[in-house]
Amino acid sequence: MIPTVPYEPHPVPLEEAAGRARAFAETMARRRTVRDFSPRPLPDGVLEAAVRAAATAPSGANVQPWRFVVITDPERRRRLREAAEAEEREFYERRASAEWLAALAPLGTDWRKPFLQTAPAVVVVFEVHKGPGTPRPYYTKESVGIAVGLFLATLHQAGLATLTHTPSPMRFLNEVCDRPAEERAAYVVPVGYAAPDARVPDIGRKPLTEVMVRL
Ligand SMILES: Cc1cc2nc3c(=O)[nH]c(=O)nc-3n(C[C@H](O)[C@H](O)[C@H](O)COP(=O)(O)O)c2cc1C
Repeated sequence: MIPTVPYEPHPVPLEEAAGRARAFAETMARRRTVRDFSPRPLPDGVLEAAVRAAATAPSGANVQPWRFVVITDPERRRRLREAAEAEEREFYERRASAEWLAALAPLGTDWRKPFLQTAPAVVVVFEVHKGPGTPRPYYTKESVGIAVGLFLATLHQAGLATLTHTPSPMRFLNEVCDRPAEERAAYVVPVGYAAPDARVPDIGRKPLTEVMVRL
């Protein structure tokens, strides 16, 4: 028999359930990926709370195969930007297919990554594939993806802006973040307040009728 504890429900009165779900959906609908940050510092404790929320995510066999590296040191962020821009320049100017560049065109992104220095914190999320005493993880990508979703949602709830950035390839991040080879970077997330004049692409979401199928 495996040890168990009583399940502690999160009770919501029946008549409030749909309203609360809708309110959360409306809050989340206002999240946008921000690419222009203000240098304004983060409130104390907010990053710890967001990592704590992320680390509550379900994971394959409960291996919890994630590592959140929080970079606030300006010199480290400068190194991160320099290395990221070198990789991204290569991507945009040589490696990216015409098809990929066409998909990115409406977003107006290019190899320049000033946000890696302007945002007061950059969080690099690693998938942990193996470590001393760590069992081999299953469904690593899926588990880390869910954790990052909770991380972004918590920061949005706290009034902060994020950018889900995925430089390609990401191996250089092991060196910049002092992480061992069995950890693989999956996301680079600048966190901060949006610049007062920040603008975002005028893009929308598919209607519910397209993304949800009822049987
Ligand atoms: C897995 C993933 C990778 C992404 N990579 C990048 C990236 O490298 N650079 C970037 O500017 N945005 C990146 N984005 C952000 C998307 O472009 C953005 O989420 C999408 O255009 C929808 O816009 P919204 O988040 O403002 O609603 C990424 C998003 C996801 C989920």
